[in-house]
Amino acid sequence: MFERTPMIAGNWKMNLSVEEAVALTEAVGSGIGNVSDVEVLVAPPFTHLAAVKRAIDESRIFLAAQNMHSEMSGAYTGEISGRMLQQAGCTHVILGHSERRTLFGETSEVVNLKVRAASFLGLIPIICVGETLEERESDRTFEVIKEQLDVSMDNFRADQMMPTTTILAYEPVWAIGTGKTATPEQAEEVHQFIRLWIEKTFTSGVAAQVRILYGGSVKPENVKALMTEPDIDGALVGGASLKGDSFVPLIHYREA
Ligand code: 13P
Repeated sequence: MFERTPMIAGNWKMNLSVEEAVALTEAVGSGIGNVSDVEVLVAPPFTHLAAVKRAIDESRIFLAAQNMHSEMSGAYTGEISGRMLQQAGCTHVILGHSERRTLFGETSEVVNLKVRAASFLGLIPIICVGETLEERESDRTFEVIKEQLDVSMDNFRADQMMPTTTILAYEPVWAIGTGKTATPEQAEEVHQFIRLWIEKTFTSGVAAQVRILYGGSVKPENVKALMTEPDIDGALVGGASLKGDSFVPLIHYREA
């Protein structure tokens, strides 16, 4: 079986001052200690990227942005291109987060354009999907996830090629910031469904290599049980990634 390197990713959303972000980065960097087989990533606000990049220094932390525009440049007031993110030091970009989808009207069609632009530039996309409580309660979880996958990766499907570096994140909307985590079984069921979708849409080899992160109220107390599931390859963490005291233990989840 292919060994996928686990990833613990912190999505800081619209939080922290530059100073706080730098201090947290330093705390996470030193907190990694001798854990060499877990990838660690932080996604600060745009204005903090350059300072966080400097604070990462020699530590093994990947830098991501939380969004980008699909065009390379032009008259798009208030937007940031993938190339600009790379210049700020990003290697990854979160795309299609449910907050972008629900609060800013971002559709899977738009996400697809962003995924295409990111891949063209060599930025690794972390593509988020997830159902709302209403969709889950009306038994539409798999239908909704399939539609989000199909459309958000339409370009990969057209090319019949999904880069194996692509990262997917399953974030049930009802579990984000609510304190309600999906049970490991609930999360695993959807992760399995997503992996099967990759296998059917691309190949079993791609499906074996692509990492699928879980996000939604992940904390030091529940991370180990989630990470024990075979198709959960990491965590995309909001609230608990804002403090070193909770972020660092996530990286050491095996000792929890
Ligand atoms: P919480 O961990 O705060 O629930 O947020 C999850 C999330 O949205 C990460 O992208």
